[in-house]
Amino acid sequence: MKQRIALIGFGTVAQGLCEILLNKKNELKKNYNYEFDIVAINDIKYGTAYNPKGLNIKNLLKEINEHRKFISNTVKWDAIQTIKKSNANIICELSYTNLIDGQPAIEYCKTALSLKKHVVTSNKGPAVFAYKKLSKLAKKNNVKFLIEGTVMSGTPVLNLVKGPLAGIKILSAKGILNGTTNFILTKMEEGMSYNDALLEAQKLGYAEADPTNDVEGYDAKAKITILANVLMNLNLKFHDVQCEGITKLTQLDIEEAKRNNARWKLVATVEKIGDEIKASVKPEMLPLSHPLAGVLESTNAITFKTDLLGDVTIVGKGAGKIETGFAILSDLLSIHMHKNLY
Ligand code: HSE
Repeated sequence: MKQRIALIGFGTVAQGLCEILLNKKNELKKNYNYEFDIVAINDIKYGTAYNPKGLNIKNLLKEINEHRKFISNTVKWDAIQTIKKSNANIICELSYTNLIDGQPAIEYCKTALSLKKHVVTSNKGPAVFAYKKLSKLAKKNNVKFLIEGTVMSGTPVLNLVKGPLAGIKILSAKGILNGTTNFILTKMEEGMSYNDALLEAQKLGYAEADPTNDVEGYDAKAKITILANVLMNLNLKFHDVQCEGITKLTQLDIEEAKRNNARWKLVATVEKIGDEIKASVKPEMLPLSHPLAGVLESTNAITFKTDLLGDVTIVGKGAGKIETGFAILSDLLSIHMHKNLY
């Protein structure tokens, strides 16, 4: 069945998804019999465009580049109205991440799932603050709530553990979960200033709308919370994760690490010891021989300690327009192929 997709939010990730869908349209049809129409797009800056038979995406991308708003097929709907009134059967919730309380994205997801519309999102807010509630609502309504893009962009982590690794128990997780800070630390080691490196990360589409979330460690804190709750079945509260970002690291610290054959990394960890959950995000100076020390630029890595396979490490891109756009595509294809991941 052809998917009818509505995009809530038309920033970096949504535009990345559109680029992929435009470039791979024929390949997706040929290889997976996958067909789609993007019927609605709502964005706080560009307005709302709707065509129940499918929007002309190339045209809309051109319109926002030239006019900073949608010109054709416009309707006066906000996000909730777009979810309710459009004929979309899948909502891609791609609005900005709010790490205070996850809103308004939680409300968007709730509205869509209540109407029996699938939700695919890379927004960490709903996954951090309402994952259990929203996935319960999705199950009740026989639709999917898929969040692969919330951790390590399109590098499969959640779907891998829920899919091929089903049956395994994850005992702990430790890794580098933020692309922006890893990129900044790599560039600072090459001699670039912190500010220039951050600007570059923003240009490359790695940083959050508010990069404070990256550099103060909140984004990694959100991701380790998601891994704990979704993959380790814990009940970790975002605010219970100890967190320190990279803003206190100076060029002198970077040089000192270099002299000691080491490297600074922003490391996120979660582990259950007895009844206690220990979770933290903090800079660690790792010897170059440590597996995480070789993870550079926007690449991320996570090592899971498991009961049946020992250590399993996943390494891959952690951020980026196309990389996160792909995460959304992979969840759309899971729905299309009726993969019962979770
Ligand atoms: N700002 C995030 C990062 C984007 O740098 O990792 C991907 O979640």
